[in-house]
Amino acid sequence: MFSKPTRVLEIRDLGSKLFIISVESEELSRAMPGQFATISLGRDDPFVPRPFSVFNAGDGRADFLVKIKGRATALLARLAEGDTILATGPLGRPLPEFDSPVLVAGGVGVAPLAFYARKHAARLLLGLPDPNPGLVETLSGLDPVVIYENTHGGGTVVDLVKEKYPSESLYIACGPWAMVRALLEAVPAERVIILAEGMMACGVGTCLVCALPAKGGKYMRVCTEGPWFRATDIDFTRPLE
Ligand SMILES: Cc1cc2nc3c(=O)[nH]c(=O)nc-3n(C[C@H](O)[C@H](O)[C@H](O)COP(=O)(O)OP(=O)(O)OC[C@H]3O[C@@H](n4cnc5c(N)ncnc54)[C@H](O)[C@@H]3O)c2cc1C
Ligand code: FES
Repeated sequence: MFSKPTRVLEIRDLGSKLFIISVESEELSRAMPGQFATISLGRDDPFVPRPFSVFNAGDGRADFLVKIKGRATALLARLAEGDTILATGPLGRPLPEFDSPVLVAGGVGVAPLAFYARKHAARLLLGLPDPNPGLVETLSGLDPVVIYENTHGGGTVVDLVKEKYPSESLYIACGPWAMVRALLEAVPAERVIILAEGMMACGVGTCLVCALPAKGGKYMRVCTEGPWFRATDIDFTRPLE
């Protein structure tokens, strides 16, 4: 699979270092929930393309919800309509349709889960540090339950699971590993699917930068074997970050 020059349609600033980048792409508009694309600015610095989950797709376009973290995401945030990026995708295994799972999202981890909720029946729970009306507006129609950790008495999205959704048949989680570990203390690992969002380079299975420790001493490649895994297949005793 090759990178394609891809036209930026819009950059929407949501505040709190979050923005949505919308691009024009027939290929990416056919992405399924759980899939991602790698994006580069087509220059030497930063050289390595960065992976982003598809947040929404269809009608010849795809949207990505991005949090500014380091150099590449800061440069992406400064693009404007009509600029060109290099995009490769859709990559990764799509999430199958499950029977009404509870989706547990931490921060920008909401991107692939919101896309899932747009396509399939599910209950979306989202934990954010502080209110972000711009982000919540993009989720309208999905009826998410949002909890703000630093306001209104606080609490995390896992507290919400414990209080209101403690015995669901399936949870699909995407967020910081600390959130995932807390979830696994609250519900049985057999009922948890995790979308892993760590470091990546090639995005197509050759460099092993994305290797995730698997049970039995082996590794799984997030880019080709993931990005979603059964929690019971991941070896949490080895470093994940
Ligand atoms: C499958 C998947 C889906 C993701 N989905 C999303 C999403 O929807 N939204 C979102 O905001 N984030 C998502 N992420 C995380 C996102 O890819 C990172 O936040 C992003 O790569 C940060 O890039 P940066 O340059 O801004 O940050 P940095 O922290 O500067 O760099 C990111 C990583 O690249 C490495 N790196 C930097 N420069 C180089 C270099 N020159 N050579 C080699 N490695 C280098 C760094 O070590 C670091 O680990 C996803 C990650 C994965 C794996
Ligand atoms: S990113 Fe290179 S093998 Fe996964």
